[in-house]
Amino acid sequence: MTRGEEHKIRLALVGANGMLAGAVRSLAPENYDLVLLDLPDFDLTDKDRVLSVMNQLRPDVIVNCAAYTNVDGCETNEETALLVNGSGPGYLAEAAKKLDATLVHVSTDYVFDGTKNSPYTEEDVTNPQSAYGRSKLLGEKTILESGLEKFFIVRTSWLYGPGGKNFVETIARLAKEREELRIVDDQVGSPTFTDDLARAIFNLLALDTPHASRLTPHGLYHFADEGECSWYEFAETIVAHLLEAETPLKMKRILPIATHEYPLPATRPAYSVFSKDKYRKVTGAKIPDWKTSLVTYLRSFRTQIKADARR
Ligand SMILES: NC(=O)c1ccc[n+]([C@@H]2O[C@H](COP(=O)([O-])OP(=O)(O)OC[C@H]3O[C@@H](n4cnc5c(N)ncnc54)[C@H](OP(=O)(O)O)[C@@H]3O)[C@@H](O)[C@H]2O)c1
Repeated sequence: MTRGEEHKIRLALVGANGMLAGAVRSLAPENYDLVLLDLPDFDLTDKDRVLSVMNQLRPDVIVNCAAYTNVDGCETNEETALLVNGSGPGYLAEAAKKLDATLVHVSTDYVFDGTKNSPYTEEDVTNPQSAYGRSKLLGEKTILESGLEKFFIVRTSWLYGPGGKNFVETIARLAKEREELRIVDDQVGSPTFTDDLARAIFNLLALDTPHASRLTPHGLYHFADEGECSWYEFAETIVAHLLEAETPLKMKRILPIATHEYPLPATRPAYSVFSKDKYRKVTGAKIPDWKTSLVTYLRSFRTQIKADARR
């Protein structure tokens, strides 16, 4: 081992090719040494493989960004959803416990039923309304029941960022293809830029020094960007920025509609804004407003579109 490698924290990144994992990869501080794990070589649902790979790698930290994220697909494939989102995280917890590693696992606002009308705290009762939500809640439970003490479960919402199918890119595409967009206005949440969540994960991990492990505030956290909006308001803001940047759009009208006018297989929570007090208190970090982060993302997104167009 050379000087400089001595203090590197070995981080096994599970689901390394996904959208959030992309941000974790690009924002990992220099003292982290990342090992990338994803399908087809690494299947989270293969318990023996998970345990043997982790045993070989001996990571200090495991960050799980892998999931079966097709929310409507989960309705018809609940068994797969329960395996990937439910059992898999339990295998990672078992590996982490054996190796005295810290596990970071990402969960979702869909564990709630959305009937509250003030921000959800970590203590609020869960009541998922979809197969995806049930499978993600099972993932939390398998970690909590594994006996692992060194874990952070971070629930987040409405994620977007480069390298994944997400709402921002869908709206940008539809606004170029269609004259009219009809967007749901009775579901309220907090859009979250993957870069902000990746930074939050490293902020939590920064508290996790080996010498202070008993004092480290491991546990469940809510994290999303600041502020709230409906999907319709989110779409309106995206389109306004595209127009401001003189992006040529076919779209002439954007209309608010009710959830029942756009039926989907999975039921979504009508309200899923998080209280981030616990995260703010332990990290002391400031959380960006969703509108500010959207602008940051759209700037890089437009640069990417221009670069693609030149190729
Ligand atoms: N996207 C959102 O709006 C949102 C909102 C709240 C919470 N979350 C949570 O945030 C986390 C990251 O989401 P994301 O949108 O970044 O996900 P994503 O882009 O769909 O990435 C998930 C990654 O996991 C991989 N994967 C799937 N099954 C696997 C398995 N059996 N073994 C190993 N890897 C597997 C996927 O590979 P393939 O592509 O080959 O399947 C993909 O590379 C997830 O836990 C998700 O539940 C997401």
